[in-house]
Amino acid sequence: MKIFLKTFALTFLYLFLSSTFVKAKSKEMDVVDYSKDIIYQIITDRFDDGDSSNNPSGNIFSPNCTDLHKYCGGDWQGIIDKIKNGYLTDLGVTALWISQPVENIYALHPNGYTSYHGYWSRDYKRTNPFYGGFSDFDQLIKTAHANGIKIIMDFAPNHSSPASETNPTYAEGGAVYDNGSFIANYYNDPGNIFNHHGETDFSTYEDSIYRRLFDLADYNLNNSKMDTYLKESIKLWLDKGIDGIRIDAVKHMPLGWQKSFTNEIYSHRPVFTFGEWFLGKGEIDPKNYYFANESGMSLLDFRFGKTIRSVLRDHSHDWYDFHEMIKETAKKYNEVNDQVTFIDNHDMARFTTENSSKRFTDMALAVLMTSRGVPTIYYGTEQYLTGDYDPINRKPMREFDKTTNSYQVINKLSALRKSNSALGYGDTKERWINSDVYIYERTFGNNVVVTAINKANHAYSISNLYTSLPQGDYKDVLNYLLDGNNLSVKQNGVVESFQLQPKAVAVWEFSKPTKEALIGHVGPMKGQPGNTIYISGEGFGKQKGSVIVGSKSAEILNWSNTNIKIKIPEIDSGVYDILLKTAHGSQSNVYKNFEVLTGKQVSVRFVVNNAYTNFGENIYLTGNVGELGNWNTEKAIGPMFNQIVYKYPTWYYEVSVPANKGLEYKFIKKDESGSVIWESGTNHVYITPKQGTDTVIVDWKQ
Ligand code: NOJ
Ligand code: NOJ
Ligand code: CA
Repeated sequence: MKIFLKTFALTFLYLFLSSTFVKAKSKEMDVVDYSKDIIYQIITDRFDDGDSSNNPSGNIFSPNCTDLHKYCGGDWQGIIDKIKNGYLTDLGVTALWISQPVENIYALHPNGYTSYHGYWSRDYKRTNPFYGGFSDFDQLIKTAHANGIKIIMDFAPNHSSPASETNPTYAEGGAVYDNGSFIANYYNDPGNIFNHHGETDFSTYEDSIYRRLFDLADYNLNNSKMDTYLKESIKLWLDKGIDGIRIDAVKHMPLGWQKSFTNEIYSHRPVFTFGEWFLGKGEIDPKNYYFANESGMSLLDFRFGKTIRSVLRDHSHDWYDFHEMIKETAKKYNEVNDQVTFIDNHDMARFTTENSSKRFTDMALAVLMTSRGVPTIYYGTEQYLTGDYDPINRKPMREFDKTTNSYQVINKLSALRKSNSALGYGDTKERWINSDVYIYERTFGNNVVVTAINKANHAYSISNLYTSLPQGDYKDVLNYLLDGNNLSVKQNGVVESFQLQPKAVAVWEFSKPTKEALIGHVGPMKGQPGNTIYISGEGFGKQKGSVIVGSKSAEILNWSNTNIKIKIPEIDSGVYDILLKTAHGSQSNVYKNFEVLTGKQVSVRFVVNNAYTNFGENIYLTGNVGELGNWNTEKAIGPMFNQIVYKYPTWYYEVSVPANKGLEYKFIKKDESGSVIWESGTNHVYITPKQGTDTVIVDWKQ
């Protein structure tokens, strides 16, 4: 009896402890703020085959993955296994970006390709059976969450699958289904579900949006049925418990539709959302910054990725170029810490090359993980997988070796990213630089991380270095894995001279919770009144204070020393500052550029006929709500398009506007210097739809 009681009590204690433990873990998971996370990008088919019974049969399957264009068997069970056996948890990654999970086409592409990568959707409300069923997906979410790992899904709302308008037997003709019921295909499309303007040559933004990306059947996102279907679909996956979304090909879809889409996500269940806006090497595109600041989502940081590659992979640039990129992007992105950084991915050559030293991969990973932005590691980089083009940059994982240097570097720096908020929230300061050496400091409140890297084959003697580190001795956080050294800091941040070894990286840190209220992150950065917003940082105090949006106090849903949850107050649409006051009356820093929307958003195509312009002038749209810039011509929407869906002198543009709302608006002509000519007469008036999409066509008022 005694023994029984004891076992009973122990079991009870165990159950109690384990349930609080699981709770504590899941409470820790912040699905909006990824500043302290490390994302690991998995091509589901190429990671691990955990269940051979779900593998395809026939000509779309390649049993030993000898044909990299075919399915190779990887699935969600494989990912579950690698979480459970510690490979991913010991690596230290805290979020997995997986292939688009939805059902894809089964047919073989005319060139012998398949949809193993998940980008050729067939039915967004069903799973890709070769990855698993919904119960496997639930299991993946559950296993990930129990291990403190978030799941980010890829989502491709730009297109269905490869198709031809003249040949119905080309793959599956782009056919798309709504939970099994047929919607349309590309070669027979009476409902105008797809755009039919040919293939893009990427020459202009408009061309990239309204023409096909390669042979992919391009959705007409101004079609109400498609709009509703895609929004319903993402909500289905949000309800399945995903923690983040990576949106494919955002440069190829109207910004207006995407803004309405992100607001749909954030009004349903806010999760971190970031898009893929591809930039080539050396490419700088102001539209990329504009999109990141206006769409409601972050972007994959191609500028960062391409620049670090040019320094440590291609050796065509040096640290001065890198630091220029750091400075410029900090100015151009409203929230540079929310952009998603990487050193390689499935659409470019892998970082490691056959004939370069693996040390460069280790060094690049160290820079990635100590820089601003949310770092993403492409699967297999830690095993030094190589491959210069698609599909050899998507080879299957063959080894899960935990002893590689890269694996160790990731492990050490992911722990630092969690424990020292300077990495997630801090800004970046250059402390010592030449073409080979870059020493940079990240600080947030009292927290400091200093990283030193020397890419040369010879040592450098470093003198005249200053840091924000308090006086003391600092051990290399990487534990000399990359030949780093310890650091001795005297009074006022003066560093004793030292030798930075050839191809060395050293990381030193100091962390101490900040006492004054300091906001590190706010997200999502857009929303309609009533939506939930998450504020994180340090020193908020245990007692509830207040949060001010513009000049109005927000309802507080939750308050702790580091995390606050608020409701967006009922205020006019527009861009506001956010700040908080602690219970003791002290005020935090100001977090800028928060956009309050009028309400639920719908995507409307505005069309204006007979708008004649002189060379250098473009047509823009402005109006009486924040979404239209509140009559501020600097915030007017555009330049509008005039080449594809309609042609000059007709101009058109999709805009995210409040649903079921009477709008007043006007078109303006604006030239490169910003001078404005207003449309004359009274304002146009228009009531937006309650849901779905719309098109409104007017004549330019002379
Ligand atoms: C970008 C993806 O990353 C790429 O792999 C894919 O083929 C295209 N978008 C089309 O979905
Ligand atoms: C100037 C425009 O000309 C007019 O039409 C509009 O109503 C006002 N801005 C709003 O302030
Ligand atoms: Ca399988």
